[in-house]
Amino acid sequence: MSLFQIVATGRALPASKVTNEDMAKLVETSDEWIKTRTGISERYFCKEESCCSLAIKAAGEAVVRGFERDAFFCKSDIGLVIAATSTSDYVFPSTACVVAKSLELGTDVMSFDINAACSGFMYALRTAKALLENMDKKYALVVGSEQMSKLLDFTDRNTCVLFGDGSGAALVKLDREKDGICYINSFSEGNNEDLLCEGIGAKDNYLKMKGQSVFKFAVRVIKQSIDDVLEKTGLSINDIDYVVCHQANARIIDHVKKQYEGGEHKFFQNVEKYANTSAASIGIALDELFVSGSIREGMKIICVGFGAGLTWSAGVFTT
Ligand code: UT7
Repeated sequence: MSLFQIVATGRALPASKVTNEDMAKLVETSDEWIKTRTGISERYFCKEESCCSLAIKAAGEAVVRGFERDAFFCKSDIGLVIAATSTSDYVFPSTACVVAKSLELGTDVMSFDINAACSGFMYALRTAKALLENMDKKYALVVGSEQMSKLLDFTDRNTCVLFGDGSGAALVKLDREKDGICYINSFSEGNNEDLLCEGIGAKDNYLKMKGQSVFKFAVRVIKQSIDDVLEKTGLSINDIDYVVCHQANARIIDHVKKQYEGGEHKFFQNVEKYANTSAASIGIALDELFVSGSIREGMKIICVGFGAGLTWSAGVFTT
């Protein structure tokens, strides 16, 4: 018997908001094209901020909200910090180590990064659950943080209009005295043709994407992984309160939600405000839902990530 729960959330965005009109000053594009093809209106890009500073802010917010929401929570109960990122400030130390130090979590904490691109937040949640099951401490901090602007070629209109910077965090708890549904799947399929960013030492460090292939992949695996979650837990879409997909393109979510008749309104969308923030998008979306009071105790939420790797992962949580 145990319940893996999202206790509290946090988010951080850079100060600088960049509209579609601003992007049209850099590349040959238009507000109309970007909105129609993606649903995106604006995004944030770091100037003073970085992947680590955003992660510290989002994770710090989740911790403060943890005190408000859970009377039993105390900082020394955090045994694990996992940062999901492809855009860490450093090769080492990890973003997670920087977060743990900055939040003064002490040394009795396991801190490391996960790179599963846009599926990173889900991979990190599953890893946190598995590790907490084998730890004395009850709480973990999961933070998805990205400075995607570092990877963007601002002369390539195919990619630079699609992404944004940001960070979303969740304080999670494994409660051995309670019972509740939580199941997370994760998949991968090596593919460096559709979505690629070469690393250290490469001549060209920019993100490259075959948009249409990735679109088809996304629509297929989101449905597949949600169906797997529903089948394995014996739930139906009627039992679910919200479905939070990785926010890459509003059209992807529209395609998927049409396949869940009667459940279309449960699919959350906020890509218009932030663009694709990769591993941060699910955490940012969850934080919006928590802060607005839309997510209440006892609800069931499905989250789905998909992206480079290729990787994909979905899970259901009881709040
Ligand atoms: O988080 C990782 C996961 N990533 C994704 O989920 C992205 C999935 N893919 C997509 O979201 C879409 O494929 C895109 C938004 C990237 C592209 O939309 P599309 O409807 O597939 O457009 P397209 O690539 O077929 O391009 C159509 C046209 C092309 O012009 P021609 O060849 O028809 O003359 C492009 O050159 O649109 C042109 N185009 C643009 N035009 C104005 C491409 N980018 C732009 C742009 N502004 N920014």
